[in-house]
Order: sequence, then C-alpha cells, then structure tokens
Amino acid sequence: MFTLVPHAFGWMTEQRPIAAVLGGELELRLLNYRDWTPLRAGQVDDEPYGGGAGMVLRVDTVAAALDAVYGGQPDHRVVALTPSGRPLTQEVVEELAAEEALTLLSARFEGFDERIVEHLATDAISIGPYVLSGGELPAMVLLDAIARRLPGALGSEKSGLVESFSRELEGGLEYPQYTRPAEFRGWNVPDVLLSGNHGRIEEWRREQSRLRSVG
Ligand SMILES: C[S@@+](CC[C@H](N)C(=O)[O-])C[C@H]1O[C@@H](n2cnc3c(N)ncnc32)[C@H](O)[C@@H]1O
Repeated sequence: MFTLVPHAFGWMTEQRPIAAVLGGELELRLLNYRDWTPLRAGQVDDEPYGGGAGMVLRVDTVAAALDAVYGGQPDHRVVALTPSGRPLTQEVVEELAAEEALTLLSARFEGFDERIVEHLATDAISIGPYVLSGGELPAMVLLDAIARRLPGALGSEKSGLVESFSRELEGGLEYPQYTRPAEFRGWNVPDVLLSGNHGRIEEWRREQSRLRSVG
C-alpha cells in the first residue's frame, strides 16, 4: 500500500478482518512515497501543467518508489485508487482477493499524473461516484473487502459465504436477520425463525433475499 499517510491505516491493522489474517494469509506493507522521492525535501507532487488548482502526484516519484521496493515494475497487479476507475463491486473484490500479491496506489490533492494510471498501474478502481480527499479511505474499503475473503478472517467461515452479493444468494441481498428479544415494543421476530424448522427457515430466507433483491 503506497500512501502519503501510512499511519492512517493503524486502526485497521488492529481490527478484524485485517488483524485476524495479518502475518498469516495477509502481509500488509504500508509504504510512503516520500521515503524514495528523488526530489528534495520529500517533495512528491507538483503544480498541474496547463494551470488549475491543487497539486498532482508526480509520475517520477511513484516510479522511484516502485523501483525501490520491487526493483522495477512489479510482476503483479498495481491498482490505482481514483474516482475515474472501474467501479468496485463484490465481483471485483473476489477477483482481486484471488491474486497472490497486489500493490495499491493512493493519491491526495488533485490526484495522479495520468501517466501513473496509464503506465505504472494495471488497474484503476473507484469506490463510488463521489470524491474523497485522498485514496486512503478507498484503499481501506478495498483492503477490508479483500481481507474478509481470506481464510480465517471471519469468526466463522460460514458468515462470509452467505451474505449480500455472494454466489450463495445469487448475487442478491441478504435476508433480514434478527436476534433476542423475540418481541420488543410489539415488534415481533417472524414466527418462522422461532419454529425450529430448518427447511422452512431456509426457504423463508431465500424468498426474503429474492424479494429484497428485485428492482
Ligand atoms: C481529491 S481526489 C482527486 C479527484 C480528482 N481531481 C478528480 O476530480 O477526479 C484525491 C485522491 O483521492 C482518491 N479518491 C477520491 N475519491 C475516490 C473514489 N471515489 N474512489 C477511489 N479513489 C478516490 C484518489 O486517490 C484521488 O486521486
């Protein structure tokens, strides 16, 4: 993970799912572009050609960081987090979670020099049609979504199998979940869930999932 604010990821490494897989299924390296910049005083960005507000992350800075860490262009996928990227979906998460290694690039301010996205990255991913101030939150979203797909990330392997957008639910939304108390302020848990009839419960859940997922 290349970022200008590695410490922003601190809390994540202490929480599930990342904490559960760190050092095992997942090795996470938080790297700061500034540590390898060829420019003076830790400079990594510059004014946009053609004018305009803000600062743009320089291609030579990012290339220097990749060269230093990988000895050149990595032989795995390099994902740039950018609002103009491919929208992040569970399908994309599954695809990236299946990779042996990934490099994530985040920017701040006005974003990347386009040559980073074109030549240094293999993928560009957006977490949604809105603009955040930096790529750290998008990267955390992607990291969390990937980490929970790794073996041992969740308390129970089953909870990761049957959830919204999973193959088990045909890509649809999860059915409603309830817990104790069975009645609160006159709001009752559906009878079928208290019936102990696992066949009927399963049928009800599938039906609810289908109802929620249409339209
Ligand atoms: C303020 S944004 C730059 C926005 C850019 N000037 C534009 O209009 O598309 C700074 C950085 O935050 C990250 N970022 C912001 N919104 C994002 C999103 N929806 N998905 C992925 N990354 C995002 C990217 O790394 C981006 O380069």
